[in-house]
Amino acid sequence: MIKPVALVHGHYECRSLKQTVPILEEFLALEIVSHGNGNLIMKHPNTGWLLALHETTGAPDKPHYQHYGVRVATDQEVDNAYEYLQKRKNDLSLKIIPPETRRIAHSVHFVEPGGNTWEIESYEGGAKKHGLSDEIAYPWRSALLDSRFSDRDYVPQCLSHGTTSCVDLDKARRFYRSALGLEVMHPFPDADPYYFKHPSSPWYIVRRAAQQS
Ligand SMILES: [Fe+2]
Repeated sequence: MIKPVALVHGHYECRSLKQTVPILEEFLALEIVSHGNGNLIMKHPNTGWLLALHETTGAPDKPHYQHYGVRVATDQEVDNAYEYLQKRKNDLSLKIIPPETRRIAHSVHFVEPGGNTWEIESYEGGAKKHGLSDEIAYPWRSALLDSRFSDRDYVPQCLSHGTTSCVDLDKARRFYRSALGLEVMHPFPDADPYYFKHPSSPWYIVRRAAQQS
């Protein structure tokens, strides 16, 4: 078995870095870490993950269930984020899916013009309802105070998850555990999503779903 020291990065393809990067900065608090050779690395200031962005002209739209998400502290902040997205959607060609509550997350999704879906989520209500620990609901070591968000009534506190899909969840689960040495969780036995993360990392999770977010 491999003994990785961390789950360190994810990859992201868009049609235009010039168009997409400002959106990730404005709505999700991501920051540019490095830039060169047609690729660009971004990071959330409160999260260890790196996000490697790749520009591909004509890149296809990605399915909804393959997305990344940020976490805010309260359900109200999700609704505030929705209001702010509504104000900016025409200028930035955003498609917005109104807020909804599913299982433990209250969240709003939006699609940026580079062909990718993002989620802004809160576990506040879900944590109370399902008795989740603060470590799971609020997986950051200290609250981010970001002056860029002072007029928006929401602050993305961490890059919380990415999603992907597979054809055989049982085989995938065994592979992540026994080959990659990751922790795998299945919090809802009646639903598809599995969550996996590196054992030593905070509850920054990557969710694995067959067909849904
Ligand atoms: Fe999600």
